[in-house]
Amino acid sequence: MWAIEVENLSKVFRKTTFGRRQEEWALKGVSFRVAEGETYALLGPNGSGKSTLIRILSTLLVPDAGRVRILGYPLPEGERRVRERIGRVSVDAAFYKKLSPRENLLFAAQLYGISPKEAERRAMAILERLGLETRRFDDPLEEMSRGMQQKVAIARALLIRPPLLLLDEPTTGLDPRSRRDVQGFLEELRREEGTTLLLTTHDMAEAERLAHRVGFLVRGRLVAEGTVEELKAMAGAGNLEEAFLRMTGEGLEEGTDAS
Ligand SMILES: Nc1ncnc2c1ncn2[C@@H]1O[C@H](COP(=O)(O)OP(=O)(O)OP(=O)(O)O)[C@@H](O)[C@H]1O
Ligand SMILES: [Mg+2]
Repeated sequence: MWAIEVENLSKVFRKTTFGRRQEEWALKGVSFRVAEGETYALLGPNGSGKSTLIRILSTLLVPDAGRVRILGYPLPEGERRVRERIGRVSVDAAFYKKLSPRENLLFAAQLYGISPKEAERRAMAILERLGLETRRFDDPLEEMSRGMQQKVAIARALLIRPPLLLLDEPTTGLDPRSRRDVQGFLEELRREEGTTLLLTTHDMAEAERLAHRVGFLVRGRLVAEGTVEELKAMAGAGNLEEAFLRMTGEGLEEGTDAS
C-alpha cells in the first residue's frame, strides 16, 4: 500500500504588490508516491515549494488542483482521519512558549486522547534518546535554544506513534551531534516501527544516509526522482550534489543559478 499518493498537485499564492496582481506557483503538477515503510527525501533550493507540499500533505493548506491520498484516505474528505494518524515536525512548530516541554506535551497528549502518564513516559524516553537534558523538562520553552525546541517538536510528533511522519527540515539548526542523534533516531523508528518518513532537507549527506528515494523539487516542479544511485547514473554524476546541479541547473541555495 502507498502511504502517500500525490497526483498533479498545484498550489498558487496570489498577492497584490503596488496594485499589480501577481501569481506565485509554489507547486506545479507535482506527482509522486511513497510506499509504506519507505523514507523519501525532498531536496530543493529555498522557495522551491518543499514546505508548501508538506503543509498540504499535513492538511494545513488546501491545494488549487490535484489529488492527494494519505494512508489511503483522500484529502480533504479524510482530513480528520489523516490528522489522527500523522506526525508533523517543522521549524515553525507552534508551541505555547511560556509553558514547559512537559506542559506542551501533556497538552498535545490530551488532544490525542493519550493518558498523561503514558504521554510523559513516552516523551521522556524520546527526549532522552535525542539528548535533551531532562532537567530542562520544566523550563519555559521560550528560554530554550532552537535546537532544543526542535527536539521537543519531534517528541510531540511521536506521541501518537504515527505510521507516517512528515518532517520539514528536521535537522536544520541542530549541532552536528544533535543532527546525528535525530538521524539515528529516525532510522531506528523506521526499522523498529516501520514508520514511513517524508522529509525535506538541504543536507545532501542526510538525504544519502536516510532516504530510499530522493526527489528534486525546483520552482514547484518535481524534476527528477529515484534512488541516490539512480539519480547519479541519470546525471552521470559522482555524487548527489553534482547530480542535483546537473539535472536542475541550480545550486541548493537561492539565486545560485549554475546555467
Ligand atoms: N503563505 C504564503 N503566501 C504567499 N506565498 C507563499 C506562502 N507560502 C509560501 N509562499 C511562496 O511559495 C513558494 C514556495 O515556498 P516554500 O516555503 O514552500 O518553499 P521551501 O522550498 O520550503 O523553501 P525553504 O527551503 O526556504 O524552506 C515561495 O515562492 C514562497 O514565497
Ligand atoms: Mg521550507
